[in-house]
Amino acid sequence: MATQPRLKLALIGLGRLGAIRARILAHQQPRIELVAVCDTKPGAGEWAVSNLPSTVKFYDDPEECMKSSGAEAVLISTATATHAPLICKGLDLDLHVMCEKPISVDVITTEEVLAKAAAKPHLKFLVPFCRRYDDSYRSARTLVESGSLGDIHAVETTCLDQQDPTGFFVSFSAQSGGIFVDMGVHDIDIGRYFLNVKSGLQNPKKQVNRVIAMGQQAVYGDLAKYGDCDNGWGLVEFANGKILTTHVGRTLRNGFEGMTRVCGTKGHSIINGNSTMDRVEIRDQHGVRTATTPDAFVLYDRSFINDLSEFSEAILDGKALTCTPEDAYEAAKIATALQYSFRNNVPVYFDDNGSPIMESTKISDH
Ligand SMILES: NC(=O)c1ccc[n+]([C@@H]2O[C@H](COP(=O)([O-])OP(=O)(O)OC[C@H]3O[C@@H](n4cnc5c(N)ncnc54)[C@H](O)[C@@H]3O)[C@@H](O)[C@H]2O)c1
Repeated sequence: MATQPRLKLALIGLGRLGAIRARILAHQQPRIELVAVCDTKPGAGEWAVSNLPSTVKFYDDPEECMKSSGAEAVLISTATATHAPLICKGLDLDLHVMCEKPISVDVITTEEVLAKAAAKPHLKFLVPFCRRYDDSYRSARTLVESGSLGDIHAVETTCLDQQDPTGFFVSFSAQSGGIFVDMGVHDIDIGRYFLNVKSGLQNPKKQVNRVIAMGQQAVYGDLAKYGDCDNGWGLVEFANGKILTTHVGRTLRNGFEGMTRVCGTKGHSIINGNSTMDRVEIRDQHGVRTATTPDAFVLYDRSFINDLSEFSEAILDGKALTCTPEDAYEAAKIATALQYSFRNNVPVYFDDNGSPIMESTKISDH
């Protein structure tokens, strides 16, 4: 029997998500051969030796890894600030590129990266948004497409991280771009996924009319220094009249929750209403309880497998990617506009080219 071709892939970044990706690539991707991993931090090589098959080479220099490992594709799972230069390096070396969200924390850099990717149409470029690769979100999308919920007119989402007593979020905020850019981008993307935002447009370039955001530093007061908040609310009015509302937060006590309500004229659908770990309930003197997923890595565990399968099949079998660079770009523009709205206490309108009208990037004293 002929063996199926496998995609030779190198993974750059072995942090919280990268370590999960490395194990998936080594053991749960029959169409992918993990040829190399890379991280610049001390101890990463020892981690790779202890946790990965001996055939996987380790590099501490990402450029050397991309050039010399024999990889045809690269997965970039490093800190956000390094994404854009590493994507460009991969494309320059004629590698297919998959990169964790976001491409960049600023829209100009995002545009430059997307232009480079578009100039190499023979290479696949994927920025996967994890909810699109979650089996429950996919079922809900099938339901929406069947028409049984009627016309989908609005989406409500939450993305609420567990409170972290170390205050990691505060120092992270300096480079994350802020809560709407770092976390809200998932909610914006899933709103776009369900709201058919390209339908009914008078001007196809303009998908959004206006956005407004508000926020608080309910627990982490120091976030104000970075023009950031630990709880934020965003309202997006798409140009076809559909509405997205989102609540993003970092102060939950029970675990990580990510809920989406899809509102249709014939019915609503709620995905991950309780973000439970499993189907086990405890019934005791406190009432009825279930354990909550501790973080996004556990809630979306299947997504981090499904997106890699789609990436390899797109390259090996010529199948279409379900999440496009345009999706990453549109979500990035809205996320940046929401962060600006919160920082400056103003609504942000979009112009006829589909760009948010933001006069300066000042950080106010929230
Ligand atoms: N649901 C999701 O889609 C999701 C969830 C979590 C994280 N992310 C994204 O994944 C990325 C990684 O997140 P994380 O939580 O694993 O971060 P992390 O800080 O835990 O890990 C980043 C790793 O990258 C390494 N690194 C940094 N620069 C490098 C370089 N130039 N070359 C090689 N290695 C380098 C660091 O040493 C570190 O080990 C972030 O961009 C984040 O936004 C996406």
